[in-house]
Amino acid sequence: MADATTILTVIGARPQFIKAATVSRAISGRADMREILVHTGQHYDANMSDTFFEELAIPVPGHNLNIGSGPHGAQTGAMLEAIERVLLQEKPDWLLVYGDTNSTIAGALAAAKLHVPVAHVEAGMRSFNRRMPEELNRVLTDHLSTLNLTSTQTATEHLASEGISGDRVLEVGDVMYDAARFYGERAGDRAALLDRLDVKSGDFLLATVHRAENTDDPRRMDAIIEAFISLGESHRIVLPLHPRTRAVLEQRGDLDRLSAAITICEPLGYLDMVALERDAVLVATDSGGVQKEAFFHGTPCVTLRDETEWVELVEAGWNTIVPPVGAEEIISGVQSSIGTRGKPIQPYGQGDAAERVVDALMGVIA
Ligand code: UD1
Ligand code: UDP
Repeated sequence: MADATTILTVIGARPQFIKAATVSRAISGRADMREILVHTGQHYDANMSDTFFEELAIPVPGHNLNIGSGPHGAQTGAMLEAIERVLLQEKPDWLLVYGDTNSTIAGALAAAKLHVPVAHVEAGMRSFNRRMPEELNRVLTDHLSTLNLTSTQTATEHLASEGISGDRVLEVGDVMYDAARFYGERAGDRAALLDRLDVKSGDFLLATVHRAENTDDPRRMDAIIEAFISLGESHRIVLPLHPRTRAVLEQRGDLDRLSAAITICEPLGYLDMVALERDAVLVATDSGGVQKEAFFHGTPCVTLRDETEWVELVEAGWNTIVPPVGAEEIISGVQSSIGTRGKPIQPYGQGDAAERVVDALMGVIA
């Protein structure tokens, strides 16, 4: 048999572990493919990284770059240098990246400069807000990529409008939908988690906040904190706390006040998260992935941002955009979304996106 096709996958942040889990499983089922995982170390706390490798049975990375946190330029630059070394050593057939983090652009740029073809999963997403670091990462990665694997028709259209089309684009569906289906069945009822958090299924709100545009803007943080404290008087709220947000709350001196009003916990594993998304009456979030997962599990969502990339969910009534500019706006946005249901839609494929990614890498579909 000819040599196996080697895929060098660069991941580093929590949502990328979840996305890669589905594709890595599909690759491991193929005798003609070999995957080498590179973990940049962008996320490094056990509950932001190791937990996912263990729980989702992601293969052990062949390379741990241990880059860690830092300002954008320093973090991305350190990744670029280290990934280049790995590429020169491993000489893969493809470099595979996911989403829109600094690990994504570093991987894509290092490979493109060495003429290693780049495949980008979740290509074509746009917020049209260039103040977001993620928007810069996405646009640049898409333009560097040989193969843009899109999750939705909207994403495919965005690429076409930027001159990226033909054999550089393939709409495969959303690997997070695959993950939600696969792991949703395995999450179980998680009764012990609900007990530990002292909440009942169908009787709490689930919240996550981590976007720089919120955490780094004191006015927006004021609005979010005051809204959560006020909503906490009439609703149970569970907030698994991202380390970026924990640091900001501590620095502001607001962590104790917020902890007294709502249930704050450490970042959760994916199966716990799936169970809470499914059992919550509403999800309030600024996360890209959590917005979609709320829909996958049939829960209404309020997105605490000025815009979203996942516009289908807003159009179908599953998601309501509530810019967190004032506590009153957030409170009324949350209250009026509880109990709502959107229209039935299926914009994210058939649950076979990971298999289609693998087929695309092997040139089986075009
Ligand atoms: C990153 C991504 C964002 C993604 C998010 C997923 C970029 C520019 N941003 O944002 O798109 O939505 O991951 O969660 O790539 N920290 C820890 N421990 C960790 C990781 C982070 O304490 O394991 C703290 C550090 O103080 C760090 C801060 O969180 O400075 C931010 O981490 P970073 O990876 O730079 O950005 P995220 O906000 O996590
Ligand atoms: N997630 C998790 N535990 C948490 C919070 C989020 O497992 O405590 C999962 C969530 O279910 C989703 C992904 O992490 O699959 C989203 O990551 P995040 O919100 O950090 O980033 P984004 O999607 O906004 O880039």
